[in-house]
Amino acid sequence: MVKCSCDFKYLLFAAAAAFIYIQMRLFATQSEYADRLAAAMESENRCMSQMRLLIDQISMQQGRIVALEEEKKRQDQECRQLRALIQDLERKGLEKIIDQVQVPVAAVVVMACNRADYLERTIKSILKYQSSLASKYPLFVSQDGEDPHVRSKALSYNQLTYMQHLDYEPVHTDRPGELIAYYKIARHYKWALDQLFYKHNFNRVIILEDDMEIAPDFFEYFGAAASLLDNDKSIMAVSSWNDNGQKQFVQDPYALYRSDFFPGLGWMLSKSTWDELSPRWPKAYWDDWLRLKENHKGRQFIRPEVCRTYNFGEHGSSFGQFFKQYLEPIKLNDVKVDWQSMNLSYLTEEKYTKHFASMVKNARPVYGTDAVFKASNIDGDVRVQYKNQLDFERIARQFGIFEEWKDGVPRTAYKGVVVFRYKTTRRVFIVGPESLQQLGIEHA
Ligand SMILES: *[C@@H]1O[C@H](CO)[C@@H](O)[C@H](O)[C@H]1NC(C)=O
Repeated sequence: MVKCSCDFKYLLFAAAAAFIYIQMRLFATQSEYADRLAAAMESENRCMSQMRLLIDQISMQQGRIVALEEEKKRQDQECRQLRALIQDLERKGLEKIIDQVQVPVAAVVVMACNRADYLERTIKSILKYQSSLASKYPLFVSQDGEDPHVRSKALSYNQLTYMQHLDYEPVHTDRPGELIAYYKIARHYKWALDQLFYKHNFNRVIILEDDMEIAPDFFEYFGAAASLLDNDKSIMAVSSWNDNGQKQFVQDPYALYRSDFFPGLGWMLSKSTWDELSPRWPKAYWDDWLRLKENHKGRQFIRPEVCRTYNFGEHGSSFGQFFKQYLEPIKLNDVKVDWQSMNLSYLTEEKYTKHFASMVKNARPVYGTDAVFKASNIDGDVRVQYKNQLDFERIARQFGIFEEWKDGVPRTAYKGVVVFRYKTTRRVFIVGPESLQQLGIEHA
């Protein structure tokens, strides 16, 4: 029994020790957890404050976005206001220039880019003869690009309306090494003519470039030609230019011709023709494009014998040698022809072939290789036959006229015939292999 109670005491003691041990372990674990909990809470707090910081930053950014959006709205509004203001000014400028009673004959536009000094000379020459006819021929300067000198020069004249073509679309040339300028020019022409025909609603437009002077009867000439252009749909445009208009090849300021070759350089176009050309306008080389049969479709151009524009642009897209040989010696007409009283009905399609044919028929045929010498020794008109393009170029070179052809047509030619004066009032006709037949002089 004693032994038994003694055993029980030991047992109790061991149990107490175990209990104490367990309590101590529990306490240690508990305090470890408390530490971990504290650490976790601390990091959670850190997280929260970082999140608050981020939220603050985001709301600040959102504030900025809202402010920027408002700024953009304001700027858009300003832009609209400015645009309206410009339109209003343009309209007022036009109203000031166009007499309300008089219907204008044609708008006159000077195509400019970056030559302010040339532009000034051109505008001065135009104003000299346009001022008294300003309501019939409202003047525009269309600038391609942002050259500040050209812009301020054009804006310094209140006799004209300024237009600016801003085009930031990059140019992709068809072939490497091509000049971008030809592409820019074609785009500028399309834009300016669309503006004048469709926005300003003119029926005709006379196109000039920023390096031209005009003759005293420039406007009277186009005024008389306007009714020709309206009444004869086989006339595609009227030009003030003769490619073979150098002093030695011209005489008669009254003489006009039809030509199958687009002369360009100071020309008048009607809205109905622009309606046809505008949607098909080429990316580049618009003048050579107009010389293709698929575009002129057998129509002709009216050109004078003596030029009504003079091209003084030595520095530009034309090269120096070309200028010296063909442009500098051009005769600018100095006679004030009374075009209003002239009977121009001989230029209509049905009359002109006969009119021209009789001149060619009456000219003395000259044969052989020394045509120039033979022609010089004959008093009246002469005609020289060519067999083909090479043969034409040889004869043209001897006389010193243009040799160039485009799409089967020599410059200035009508039904293959190139005509010019030689030394006196004598006319020289260089006649193509099919010309006499086409003119009804010979029958096949
Ligand atoms: C103009 O000339 C043509 C001949 O080419 C003639 O038939 C016509 O009557 C003339 N018109 C006037 C108004 O003189």
